Amino acid sequence: MSLSTNIVDPFNAQIKSEFTASAQYLAIAIYFDQMGLGELANFFFRQSDEERVHAMKFIQFMLESEAKPLIPPVSELRNSFASPSEAVQFALDQERKVTSEINNLVDIAVRESDHAANSFLQWFVVEQVEEIDTMSTLLQTIKLAGDNLLLVEEYVRRNPQHADAAA
Ligand SMILES: [Fe+2]
Ligand SMILES: [Fe+2]
Repeated sequence: MSLSTNIVDPFNAQIKSEFTASAQYLAIAIYFDQMGLGELANFFFRQSDEERVHAMKFIQFMLESEAKPLIPPVSELRNSFASPSEAVQFALDQERKVTSEINNLVDIAVRESDHAANSFLQWFVVEQVEEIDTMSTLLQTIKLAGDNLLLVEEYVRRNPQHADAAA
């Protein structure tokens, strides 16, 4: 079955968004690695891998649906942050943006009566609930830890499932 024509461009825009998120998480991982915060770095390296998997899901679905995915340049990225909480806040804002993009794609699929695309997108709807929960909990933990970032390292080390579960 082929993808509705009006969904092709928005799907390609989402591929760009997922690859951008993947690259942005690499930049955040590097920021934490350079601070000597290895667990936080690994958390964001894993998040980066997950975002690449998300992009691949869109690519595969488009190929199966006789639509041509376009591999885009990623958007402008941020490589420096004033503090760990600023970096994680930036990640949370990015997840909120992706959530509204996914919801918008669902709106289009419903409008086009493209049931296959709608069904495909439902995985992402649920995934975004988890992504926002993971990131806002991490931000909360960083704020509670204050200056003692080793507490955050311990928290991330004990809760690796947060990043691994969804991939
Ligand atoms: Fe994603
Ligand atoms: Fe995400």
